[in-house]
Amino acid sequence: MSPLTVIFDCDPGVDDGVALLLAFAARDALKVLGITTVAGNVSAKLTARNAGVLREIALREDVPIYAGCERPLKRSPIEAGHFHGESGLGDLPLFEPRHAVEAEHAVDWLIQTLLAAPARSIALVATGPLTNVATALLREPSITNAIREIAIMGGARSEGGNITASAEYNIYADPHAAQVVFATDVEIVAFGLDVTHQVRATPERIDTIARLGNPSAVATANLLTFATYLPANSPAAQGAPLHDPCPIAWLIEPALFEFRRCHIEVETESTLTAGHTAVEFRADVAPHQNVRWGVRANAAGIFDLLHRKLAQSGKA
Ligand code: BDR
Ligand code: CA
Repeated sequence: MSPLTVIFDCDPGVDDGVALLLAFAARDALKVLGITTVAGNVSAKLTARNAGVLREIALREDVPIYAGCERPLKRSPIEAGHFHGESGLGDLPLFEPRHAVEAEHAVDWLIQTLLAAPARSIALVATGPLTNVATALLREPSITNAIREIAIMGGARSEGGNITASAEYNIYADPHAAQVVFATDVEIVAFGLDVTHQVRATPERIDTIARLGNPSAVATANLLTFATYLPANSPAAQGAPLHDPCPIAWLIEPALFEFRRCHIEVETESTLTAGHTAVEFRADVAPHQNVRWGVRANAAGIFDLLHRKLAQSGKA
């Protein structure tokens, strides 16, 4: 089968970093047209720099990076450096990437690329706040024609939130953008905390990846180890949740996940529940059922996939 064409919007971020290394390594399955970065876990300047660092580690400088929105649509920025380290990439040894990011703004590139693409030909993956995606949709609604689906890491239902009692970080960081995206007619595949919390980077799984020994595998093990030993993810033996690699893993091997179809509205006003994702499964109550909500993940299968793809990193 020919590789699936993908655009990857992210805010690296430790787990975005692992997702990028997976996508870069999976040349046989994914044709990554470009990476767009957004302010989120750390500032827009750092997320773009971090994408450049990972691209260079993966020897994928053929993939262009476009830096995007520096602030959420309406709310003030909420970074998550306490979780991802000051640089955004934990304690990964950093360097200034050889190649700069492209001059064009991420939103301009998204619009221009999607307008030029055939109908339903591109999978858009988003693992940060949805500011770039929403801005592109607001400016040029017809870009939806080219999108096969938007695979989002974001939201929470039965697991509760990880920022407030009911809000997950990516949605909380720009709830107005998330509401714009969920309200479109595009098919959305949502990997919220209900499913990402099932996928845990245990010390044994990290060790298996580290033993591959190539630069992408070593960097992945470093990022996952940093996340595992954060106090918030204690005890380390259970492993840190592997959020952002989930949509990438799904694009490569859809059978690793199970979903329920639903409609999602995002709370944008309340101070108590801003960023809450109201997941409505009842089609008679909410007929616009454009979202598949992740309910089950095959964690062992996902780590096996990560291991297999990282093993081929660096090979043409
Ligand atoms: C999400 O929040 C970010 O901090 C992570 O990178 C991930 O995208 C998990 O809630
Ligand atoms: Ca992220």
